Amino acid sequence: MRKIAVIGTGYVGLVSGAGLSDFGNEVICADINEKKIELLKQGEIPIFEPGLKELVDRNVTAGRLSFTRDIDRVIKDSEVIFLAVWTPMSENGEADLSAVKEVSKTIGKNLNGYKIICTKSTVPVGTGAMIREIIENHQNDHVEFDVVSNPEFLREGAAVRDFLWPDRVVIGTESQKAMNIMREIYRPLFINETPMILTDIPTAETIKYASNAFLAVKISYINEIANLCDEIGADVHIVAKAMGLDGRISPKFLHPGPGYGGSCFPKDTHALLHIGESAGIDLNVVNAAVKTNINQRHRVIQKITQLFDEKPKGKTVAILGLTFKPDTDDVRESPAIEIIQWLLKKGVSVQAYDPQGIDNMKEKFPEVSYMESTEDAVRGADLVVILTDWHEFRAMDIGRVSQLVNQKILLDTRNILNPVDLKRYNFRFDNVGRPNVK
Ligand code: UDX
Repeated sequence: MRKIAVIGTGYVGLVSGAGLSDFGNEVICADINEKKIELLKQGEIPIFEPGLKELVDRNVTAGRLSFTRDIDRVIKDSEVIFLAVWTPMSENGEADLSAVKEVSKTIGKNLNGYKIICTKSTVPVGTGAMIREIIENHQNDHVEFDVVSNPEFLREGAAVRDFLWPDRVVIGTESQKAMNIMREIYRPLFINETPMILTDIPTAETIKYASNAFLAVKISYINEIANLCDEIGADVHIVAKAMGLDGRISPKFLHPGPGYGGSCFPKDTHALLHIGESAGIDLNVVNAAVKTNINQRHRVIQKITQLFDEKPKGKTVAILGLTFKPDTDDVRESPAIEIIQWLLKKGVSVQAYDPQGIDNMKEKFPEVSYMESTEDAVRGADLVVILTDWHEFRAMDIGRVSQLVNQKILLDTRNILNPVDLKRYNFRFDNVGRPNVK
């Protein structure tokens, strides 16, 4: 059992801290955000993430997990310090490392014995070396420490499962001593024979970007094929299914839609392009995936325009789904943002419903009418647009919706509704890449 500090209690920090305590370690999660820490101390979870409350409660009750604002103290008291602070995208697409730099300085000032500093946040190649330099420059006495890269691969909505039962764990460090301690921290996963990639820091840092960018490429690829299917009369679902049966391709991440969003893919693809540029390497494939993703949002707007016969002004649109994907309350880089922005600019009234994302979207668009159910959102609408594949939208009663809307027009950007039902109730509708089932 090791004494661990996790600095930063966002998605990554909170799930990792709770997960590491579940492995038997003693974990203190620290954050400068007073409100968040107060909520956590009261047993509340500041984000919506299935299973997280149970995981946190279990470990707090067992006395292995606690929360504090006192970052200096946790640095002094722990043997391993995980950095899980945010690394947002700066204006030029580069990862903004100011929080990482700030915490590294604080670590340097408080280093009172051998410690491991481990990055969980997605950071560009070379950050490990930068952290080492900052800590060395801020140390009062010379104390030995090691830097480790241990990137996370958590999906929002499935983060707890991804942490406790990961596909692989990546640990990058040049120090055998640090590697042994990290192996001990992840001991339950070693016992379960979870594949472990033990490597150096630059390789570990690259694995994270290469994996996320590959998934983004896969989504953009199927979106382009879907757009092609739209024009040539093929069904993208059957195309994707047949492609996925080839073990070399795999069926995952071949679902077309309004383009990827979230806190990772948009940021990490841009950061990787920036890394490539600095290294003098053209990352053409990643560049194309980013462009295609932007285009996919325009494609949705084009479909809305067509369904409205080019005259959206004065109409009412029901938006079903505000989050970038289901099972989260996160609206960062969500397709809904661009679509709503465009609709409002065109003089359309927007009434929206999402099972979890309303509070976060309200901050961005106070002028939207937020509803408490699908029924309320579609009432009186001239067009219904599904933007997130929440289960409750899949199970939508089309017959009931047909009675509530003003016009039976629907755009299903996630292809979750059964076209047979839509046809039965005389909807004029569109989806992504399935022209034959309209
Ligand atoms: C992602 C990675 O999966 C995770 O490993 C990483 O650590 C963080 O980024 P996340 O952003 O939570 O996780 O969501 P993910 O499930 O990967 O979906 C990302 C976006 O791609 C969503 O907008 C989703 O709707 C979209 N997507 C996903 C598709 O459009 N089609 C697909 O087939 C899969």
